Amino acid sequence: MPPRFDVVDVDRQLPVAGPCDTEIAALRHDFIWGVSTSSFQIEGATREDGRGPSVWDTYGWQGRITNGDTGDVACDHYHRYPEDIDLMRQLGVQAYRFSVAWPRVFPSGRGALNAPGVAFYDRLIDALLEANIEPWLCLYHWDFPQALDDLGGWTNRDSVQWFSDYAASVAASFGDRVKRFATFNEPSIFTLFGLGFGGERATSSADRLHRAIHNINLAHGAAVDVLRARVAGSSIGVIHNVQPCIPSTPADAAAAERCDAYWNKAFPDPQYLGVYPEPVRSAVEPYIQPGDLTRICRPLDWFGVNHYSPVFAKADGDAVTGFNFGDRPPGLPETPNGWPIMPDSFRETLVSVASRYSHPVYVLENGLGGYDKPDQRGAVSDPERIDYLRKYIGAMNAAARDGADIRGYFVWSLLDNLEWEAGYDVRFGLTYVDYLTQRRIPKASFEWYRNVIQAAHHR
Ligand code: FCB
Repeated sequence: MPPRFDVVDVDRQLPVAGPCDTEIAALRHDFIWGVSTSSFQIEGATREDGRGPSVWDTYGWQGRITNGDTGDVACDHYHRYPEDIDLMRQLGVQAYRFSVAWPRVFPSGRGALNAPGVAFYDRLIDALLEANIEPWLCLYHWDFPQALDDLGGWTNRDSVQWFSDYAASVAASFGDRVKRFATFNEPSIFTLFGLGFGGERATSSADRLHRAIHNINLAHGAAVDVLRARVAGSSIGVIHNVQPCIPSTPADAAAAERCDAYWNKAFPDPQYLGVYPEPVRSAVEPYIQPGDLTRICRPLDWFGVNHYSPVFAKADGDAVTGFNFGDRPPGLPETPNGWPIMPDSFRETLVSVASRYSHPVYVLENGLGGYDKPDQRGAVSDPERIDYLRKYIGAMNAAARDGADIRGYFVWSLLDNLEWEAGYDVRFGLTYVDYLTQRRIPKASFEWYRNVIQAAHHR
């Protein structure tokens, strides 16, 4: 069945759902369908109501994001969250994954709580519950408080205490209504991009990377304990990007293994299995104190996977980690923003994560980055995204058929948003955002996903 491209305006009533043209038969009947976002990428209001700066504000204000973009306005979700929840309601999702901006609740990262910042998340959570959408709260999606970065950030072991104090406040403020918590989003990505690919192979750089890896793992364990103790009925996990690391050439096999250790396992292995993978273990060893691995490996309820595509790795003697991004074979299909489309590698990832970590798996990000534009009628047709989602949901269904315990799937993202250093050019949303007017236009993929959810419920 070809996808339907009639675009729905938020103000209008949605038509009756159309056919579902992807495979979902092997998915559980209580499967959770959702969408994901993150604070810095959508909220805006970076100077409002007492919010403090994050490292990503600094980065943007220094002009280091494409086109000189900043997070100052973003999708203005801080003010428009009721409209965004209305979109979710129309989409029919049961769950919404968002993150709390640490510097919105603690402007300097610690010390006095910022009541207006807490009040924003109170409003958001109450409105989600009112719409019958379960809030999935991620404590950390990269917007680290600038004031704490000035003290060494994650390379400072005090960060473990800073993070667990922050987690305790989040638990106290929202734990009466929020039960699903993730500690971190993609710790390997922000540590590797922040500290691992720095260029110079100075000892200090390797030192900072490995200190940060270990401190973040400790911060995760401490936050899990805090959430578990303070939130009755909590369901706690952590969100990892997992992507097969494929050698760029046969000579890069060892580099691909190093990539796998740093990219995929440096965080999940100690968190779920209580061990560091080599070669990360030897590099982190100088920073490990007695009892640390037990502090990191705390009981968890589920494993969150983000996946878009595999990585092609090559050896790089100048990189702290010994690997870098290599060429990929010519002719692979790719997304408009240049990421390889390999749905079978998603199936393989889900099967291997479910078996290696023996926890229920939730896919908490998957989606396609493009350069969508409204047509003359103001409609946004995105057949490439629909095709990608169809193939990837089909691959997830195949993984479930192969025995992987997968419990939910969240599209990245509800809205077009600030794609980190790529700025606003690359769009991942099921909903188009016109950044000049902040008008939201559900894309064709919005209705396509809505049909999938409806079909899943009516099985
Ligand atoms: C992931 C990030 C998310 C978004 C997607 C496209 O790595 O977690 O914030 O940028 O990529």
